Amino acid sequence: MTEQKLEVKEKKEEFEPKIIGFLCNWCAYAGADLAGVSRIQYPANIRIIRVMCSGRVDPAFILEAFKNGADGVLVAGCHLPSDCHYLTGNFKALRRVLLLKKVLKEFGIEPERLRIEWVSASEGDRFATIIKEMVEEIKKLGPNPLKAGGKANV
Ligand code: FES
Repeated sequence: MTEQKLEVKEKKEEFEPKIIGFLCNWCAYAGADLAGVSRIQYPANIRIIRVMCSGRVDPAFILEAFKNGADGVLVAGCHLPSDCHYLTGNFKALRRVLLLKKVLKEFGIEPERLRIEWVSASEGDRFATIIKEMVEEIKKLGPNPLKAGGKANV
């Protein structure tokens, strides 16, 4: 392996992604809280923003997070189809995220950086698994192209 390739590999290994998580108050946030109180280990790469419902997450919040250098964004809410405390917020969130993934691609941001998941208040282990998976996936992608001054143009 050349010295340059070795250096790139080392940089990728050093890279610790910053993930912004928008978690709904009633399910996903409670799931994250359970992971915490149960002392389930997961990477400390996520910064959590509590919202009342995943349907409250405006696509502009997600774009703003990427613009400010987030390497990944997680939107997490109550399970489909009927756990949302506001009835259809989770469906709205899903529709928006799927649409936004297409838009991100146009901007040169890999759609895999944005993820939507359903986590109930009793699924602390599921929350931890999602974060572990997300960190691994984003480590493979590398830093947000906006941070690197690269190809993205939001
Ligand atoms: S209240 Fe949790 S997704 Fe709506």
